[in-house]
Amino acid sequence: MIVTALVVAVGTLGVGLGLAYLLRLLPTVRLQLAALAVLAVVLPLGAVLLSGWVMFHMGDDKKILAVMALSALTAIVAALVVARSIADAIDGVADASAELAAGDLSSRAPEGGPDEVAALAKSFNEMGQSLRRLFDTRRELVAWASHDLRTPLANMQAMLEALEDGLARPEEYVPALREQVGVLSELVDDLFELARIDAGALTLELHELPIEPVVSSSLRGVEAEARMRRVHLAASVDGAARARFAPMEVERVLMNLLTNALRHTPSDGSVAVRVESSASEVQVAVEDTGDGLDPEARTRMFERFWRGDRARSSRGAGLGLAIARGLVEAHGGRIWAEEREGGGARVCFTLPAS
Ligand SMILES: Nc1ncnc2c1ncn2[C@@H]1O[C@H](COP(=O)(O)OP(=O)(O)OP(=O)(O)O)[C@@H](O)[C@H]1O
Ligand SMILES: [Mg+2]
Repeated sequence: MIVTALVVAVGTLGVGLGLAYLLRLLPTVRLQLAALAVLAVVLPLGAVLLSGWVMFHMGDDKKILAVMALSALTAIVAALVVARSIADAIDGVADASAELAAGDLSSRAPEGGPDEVAALAKSFNEMGQSLRRLFDTRRELVAWASHDLRTPLANMQAMLEALEDGLARPEEYVPALREQVGVLSELVDDLFELARIDAGALTLELHELPIEPVVSSSLRGVEAEARMRRVHLAASVDGAARARFAPMEVERVLMNLLTNALRHTPSDGSVAVRVESSASEVQVAVEDTGDGLDPEARTRMFERFWRGDRARSSRGAGLGLAIARGLVEAHGGRIWAEEREGGGARVCFTLPAS
């Protein structure tokens, strides 16, 4: 009887100590805390059982106190060990977030510790990365926007000062001033459109329509410029192609692509719009016989303010394709650029078929 009770008591204590040590190896906080709770219940119970046994069979208070102190100490050590591993991991995230809050966008949290804290650190780091990308884009946007706004403003200021000083007659500068105002208002319109796309404030009125009228109307829109540049315009449209789209927005996309194509095609070249449809989507491609696209242009041309050759295409702000992408994606379509077979560029977009 005594031997059995002794074996049970020592066994309980041994298991308690072993579990206390193993607790920190458990992978999740929930498991660690649950196991700790079990241990906290089982240990005193074991101690009570042990004490009862000691009292009834030996009547020795010192031994009871020793057993209780030993149990309590084991529980406290286990709790401290577990708490430390959790607290260290959380401190890592807290330190990183304090650095981020102080403006250091490169701050990252160590992704160790129990699963829940590691997942928290991982998503914190992803948030840091997105924030950094966002800030870089914003900084670039503001830099380019202010540069592009400043240029026409400086031109206008110079012309107005020349007029005020009597160095030129108004009729000499009025057309140029009008042109600069045009450049400015186009830029402001583009920035406004991009802001609407970014804010998700773009409300598209989607209709199921044939695509052909939009293509014809866009081609009419650039006909004069094509004639002036002596570039041949062509269209090959699947007349039955119908899609779900907002006509004004898709015309804007097409106009942006056609303007680019014309701008990059030497005289006697040609620009063509090709429309093909499948069961799920309609694909519109604008092809030109210009210089084509280098790999950098192919990947970066849809970024806002990106211009391939700043000197040559200095007339544009580099927003046309960024707007086109925003509008196409708002329709649920895709837009991309590739080399045209036989030289030149080919910019394609898709619209969901109705
Ligand atoms: N058809 C094309 N052939 C060769 N390069 C092109 C073509 N279309 C676009 N690109 C390149 O992509 C860049 C970005 O085009 P995007 O339309 O966004 O800006 P942009 O035409 O320069 O200015 P904006 O459209 O704001 O007036 C252009 O500057 C040009 O370098
Ligand atoms: Mg453009």
